[in-house]
Amino acid sequence: MDNFMQMTKELGHKPELLRLRALDATYDDALEGKLVVAPIDMNEPGKKILDSGTADGTWLRGVRSKQSAQHHYFGSDVEGELFPEDTDGITYFAHSFKDPWPQQYLGTFDLVHIRGSMAGSAPEGPAPVIKNLTTLLKSGGWVQLMEMNGFSAPKNGPAMTDFAKMASEMFTGIGVGDFANNNKSLLEEAGLVNVQEKRVIVNLGKKAKPEFQEISIHGVTGPIVPLTSVARTVPTSFTSEQFDTLPSRVKEELQTEGGQVEMVIAFGQKA
Ligand SMILES: C[S@@+](CC[C@H](N)C(=O)[O-])C[C@H]1O[C@@H](n2cnc3c(N)ncnc32)[C@H](O)[C@@H]1O
Repeated sequence: MDNFMQMTKELGHKPELLRLRALDATYDDALEGKLVVAPIDMNEPGKKILDSGTADGTWLRGVRSKQSAQHHYFGSDVEGELFPEDTDGITYFAHSFKDPWPQQYLGTFDLVHIRGSMAGSAPEGPAPVIKNLTTLLKSGGWVQLMEMNGFSAPKNGPAMTDFAKMASEMFTGIGVGDFANNNKSLLEEAGLVNVQEKRVIVNLGKKAKPEFQEISIHGVTGPIVPLTSVARTVPTSFTSEQFDTLPSRVKEELQTEGGQVEMVIAFGQKA
């Protein structure tokens, strides 16, 4: 995924952060505002919550905005430059989820969350990252993972079908495989209990509510150019011309007929 990060860097971080916020609003709507799916009593104050691969902390701020109780929020990302200048009470630290976690955080968290970042586990894949995440949990704490299902995507028009195909071939090529659908069993293999999965359909473009139509198109089409640039580096069934035309085809299809993606949320608890 280095190629993806390099490209979004060259474009400047701002467009990528705006895109992530657009997508966050779309997910928030699909989840009916329930960003924390793991059964944690958020009314009990003092929970310790980490979002790894947080970018600018959008998910953390979204979670915090819905709570009446006070909690401790932490965000980490391999790209420390994405953190907001005004940390607004959230503790940020630069860290790759592939590396051992800082000693002071081990065994201390009630919830550790990753969304849309697991492709960054290449080339080793998500299993060691998930195992590593569990070291952060206190007894009774939860890991929650949310990723797009590119391998058995909802039925869509030809452009969105090609987008899912491109994503799945690219994920296979970089060595992370079908992580969205595998996360549940990986949480079990990492020794967590009460492991569950929730699937949510996210409507895009013309299929979305009026206020989410434009932002959902932006949220999904934004990363297609960088994603195709990663896909070009591994064996796939796509020609160079098909990669070139994919972003505009997806945009047009979402504007004219809309589309859907399925997000898979897997969560499990430390005994
Ligand atoms: C598509 S963005 C998702 C951001 C955020 N989680 C969200 O849902 O809005 C992927 C993020 O994962 C981060 N990332 C990639 N590889 C990582 C790694 N090895 N460790 C930590 N973060 C990583 C990237 O820097 C980027 O901010």
